[in-house]
Amino acid sequence: MHPWIADRTTTFDSSGIRKVFDLAAKLKDPINLSIGQPDFDVPDEVKEAAIEAIRNGKNSYSPTQGIGPLREALREEVQAKYPHEDRDVFVSSGTSGGLMLAMLSMINPGDEVIYMDPFFVMYPALLKMCGGVAVPVDSYPDFRLDVEKIKAAITPRTKMILVNSPANPTGVTATASELKAVAQLAAEKNIAVLSDEIYSRFFYDGTFASPASYNDQTIVIDGFSKSHAMTGWRVGYVHGPSEIIRTMLKIQQYSFVCSPQPAQWGALRAMEVSLDGHIEAYRRKRDFVYSALADCYEIAKPGGAFYMFPKAPTDSGEAFVEQAISRGLLIIPGNIFSARDSHFRISFAASDEQLKQGVDILRSLAGV
Ligand SMILES: Cc1ncc(COP(=O)(O)O)c(C=O)c1O
Repeated sequence: MHPWIADRTTTFDSSGIRKVFDLAAKLKDPINLSIGQPDFDVPDEVKEAAIEAIRNGKNSYSPTQGIGPLREALREEVQAKYPHEDRDVFVSSGTSGGLMLAMLSMINPGDEVIYMDPFFVMYPALLKMCGGVAVPVDSYPDFRLDVEKIKAAITPRTKMILVNSPANPTGVTATASELKAVAQLAAEKNIAVLSDEIYSRFFYDGTFASPASYNDQTIVIDGFSKSHAMTGWRVGYVHGPSEIIRTMLKIQQYSFVCSPQPAQWGALRAMEVSLDGHIEAYRRKRDFVYSALADCYEIAKPGGAFYMFPKAPTDSGEAFVEQAISRGLLIIPGNIFSARDSHFRISFAASDEQLKQGVDILRSLAGV
């Protein structure tokens, strides 16, 4: 290792994802069911709002906390849902920026953070960068948010429970009563709840629930990346207790500085755009892929996001993904998101044609 590289960078690696990128690079025109972003483009009116902002010279730094009109619109939305006395909001540099600031603001070296396995790849890495200790809780085979398992993982060092519903990579959504149980347990034990709600709009059965409804100290992170296909624009937002928000802003001031200003004007416009058509299309895609695979794969039916996490028919998820790739289908091995190597992730954020081709290959790999 180069002598200039800091120790903290060795606590996690990115080799799993790199391997998938390398495999993908070898494929010409793959059937690509590996992508973690919508297959639709940014709505035109959002593009226009950002272009107009650029033309009107709104190209400088914004206030650290975000442009006034966006922060106010978000505050109004948040207050209507969670009328807590002490809830403040700010605009972050994507949801990832919000996650990073939350960890830096709250995690001391040695603090333990509980989250469910499988998990979003960034969680252990961000946590370890801050010297935190990851406490993944196995949620196989149904990927439910199980308060009893979480309770059993709590120690005197537990600082935070990190929840993600709808979840990446499983698409599974937690019920209101599961979230309530976890939120109340955290309140009893004086443990922070950090809720990553980036997929909150992609909710297909029933209505979205947040632990913030049951615990007024919950820190919520959400953003525009997935809902409005703005992954490259870097606009997220965080709401939670005002002192925590102030601390996150202190770090944002000396790190990310702000979310890109033109993108924030786009996000303000995005708040008025209806997503109903897209969500309906994704519900249909979910139903299509699930019903095409449910008879030959073990799958927890996803209620949200745009992922499914079936069990591989072979012993190793990674070996199975290699087989799929040799047939021109790009999917992601489950061991990138998990201590286990038994599953694989499909993204159904793809065209109907690609989904049909992908499903045909998966059915044939399962021997049907
Ligand atoms: C669960 C989860 N959280 C956060 C993010 C990061 O989103 P953003 O683009 O807003 O940083 C992703 C992106 O894939 C995700 O899946």
